[in-house]
Amino acid sequence: MIRDVLRMGDPRLLAIASPVHDFHSEELKQLLADMRDTMAHLNGAGLAAPQIGVSLRVVIFGVTANPRYPDVEEVPDTVLINPEITPLGDEMEEGWEGCLSVPGMRGWVPRWSSLRYAGCDEQGRRFERSVSGFHARVVQHECDHLDGILYPMRIRDLAKFGFNEALFPGQDLPRED
Ligand code: NI
Repeated sequence: MIRDVLRMGDPRLLAIASPVHDFHSEELKQLLADMRDTMAHLNGAGLAAPQIGVSLRVVIFGVTANPRYPDVEEVPDTVLINPEITPLGDEMEEGWEGCLSVPGMRGWVPRWSSLRYAGCDEQGRRFERSVSGFHARVVQHECDHLDGILYPMRIRDLAKFGFNEALFPGQDLPRED
């Protein structure tokens, strides 16, 4: 079922989400189905459970290569539950981000360039990956939602935060997270 996505200003987006303990519940299955439906409907790159009002440490993300956006790297479709992020090195890089909870806007956000993330898939099996670049950015953005952090809170120079049409006139932009 497609769910409403909460928008910045809603206090539920600022809460610390709770870990998942039961990986075989009907609630988790339904949550993941709703998150997939909602993300697909809005053509998002990622979605965190708190964005649909469920305060659990569950995120999904994935970006398929699109010839319209040759600069956007592919990210595998992933369900990540109870994630842990470990930066690899201290290098950071800045890039444009959007968010389904901050629709129509983009901001220039610093993130760790490389990291390892670990967590569980929807069956509760633990996995980990070492990633960099756009994949690392998407993971950091989604996992921030679990700690009540929205990307505008990380922008260093608010001159680089604005509406899509004003920042990128006439451009067709890739997906929001
Ligand atoms: Ni977001």
